[in-house]
Amino acid sequence: MQPVQIADLQHHVGATVTVQGWILTTRSSGKIAFLVLRDGSGYLQCVLSRKEVSEQVWQLFQTLTQETSVAVTGSVRAEPRSPGGYELGVSDIRVLGPSVDFPIGPKEHGTQFLFEHRHLWLRSRKQVAIAKVRHEVEQAMRDFFYDRGFVLVDTPIFTGAIGEEAGNLFATDYFDLGKAYLAQTGQLYVEAAAAALGKVYCFGPTFRAEKSKTRRHLTEFWMVEPEVAFNDSNANMQLQEEFVAYVVSRVLDRRKEELKELERDVTPLERVLPPFPRISYTDAVAKLNTLGSDIQWGADLGGDDETLLAKEYDRPVFVYNYPKHVKAFYMKENPEDPRTVLNDDCLAPEGYGEIIGGSQREDDYDRLLARIKEQHLDPEAYRWYLDLRKYGTFVHSGFGLGVERTVAWICGIPHIREAIAFPRQIHRLYP
Ligand code: 4AD
Ligand code: MG
Repeated sequence: MQPVQIADLQHHVGATVTVQGWILTTRSSGKIAFLVLRDGSGYLQCVLSRKEVSEQVWQLFQTLTQETSVAVTGSVRAEPRSPGGYELGVSDIRVLGPSVDFPIGPKEHGTQFLFEHRHLWLRSRKQVAIAKVRHEVEQAMRDFFYDRGFVLVDTPIFTGAIGEEAGNLFATDYFDLGKAYLAQTGQLYVEAAAAALGKVYCFGPTFRAEKSKTRRHLTEFWMVEPEVAFNDSNANMQLQEEFVAYVVSRVLDRRKEELKELERDVTPLERVLPPFPRISYTDAVAKLNTLGSDIQWGADLGGDDETLLAKEYDRPVFVYNYPKHVKAFYMKENPEDPRTVLNDDCLAPEGYGEIIGGSQREDDYDRLLARIKEQHLDPEAYRWYLDLRKYGTFVHSGFGLGVERTVAWICGIPHIREAIAFPRQIHRLYP
């Protein structure tokens, strides 16, 4: 008999099947006993009646402990009060792998302890729900771009050129060529690809040796980065709002159970519809001052400023055209105010802060070269990148959305470290 997954039980009502999984809980009341089984696809209540099972199975049940792997055989019945809507009337249980003293019980554990046991903690209901939301988010992203004719381009992790900030690079020895840097972004490479393919995106891990220990920072995180030939900054923001709205609606649509498990209030998510409000950096600073922040024109928005500003809106908000000197070298100078660049940050509601950084790219050879020199970067390392401005330069824009920040926001969890299976932080490399 082929084992059946819990998620497929609906097709087996009335039949006798075997389900393989791990034991979540057991309880018994003399004549009747229950165990809740999980197999990754769902949760299943299994019911044993002392009258109907052999003495051997009844005794075996008494020895079962949390996280024992088992094969349970029984008949499937619809049971609306049961999690998942089905129940198994057990006839046989076979232990596949015992589990003695599983370290994570129903009692409260400290954060440190849980992250030390991340490999086991992943099995808990909440962590399973987060993993499924993340999976949906990533699939929605891929579908969004695929359906709109974007070509996926995989960009290198070992790079010779810096993308964002020299101060937080991870470097490694690279044979006779000196240092290679782990990619902070795939952007420079998708810019080259955009000139070949028009609309492209990359999707992969990125690395930043940031010393920040905030709830918004990891040293390794996943980023999706579209790049579009002939899009200006306005078109770029329009793409971002359509993208974010699509991803959120996909999760609302297909991951109701998981959002419920996470006790996520979905009302604020249901409001995530285009168009998103847009406010210039200059206006944002003025507004922040009236809201009690002492930010001065020229400073980057800190996490607290982002939260304060985002509270003013009922959906994500774009802050656009930041001062040139707080942003990366590749952003296009604003022709109407050369102190600023044509960029945007998209701030999520509910205190989640920046989920997207995007910009129109500097497409003028001389200005880009000047910016590279200003930032004391090596023009030789950027020769190929400058070439794009030499051979058929083109208006183009793109953005990067951080997967973990987006998942944390959609799940409503306070810290992004739970939004990835094995988070990498300054003080965490295990497991
Ligand atoms: O604003 P950032 O640095 O932009 C770029 O990397 C551009 N090259 C993107 C582009 O235009 N193609 O990063 C983009 C997003 C942020 O908005 C945030 O969501 C996420 O990446 N991010 C981080 N997430 C987790 N931990 C960190 N240390 C992060 N740094 C950035
Ligand atoms: Mg940014």
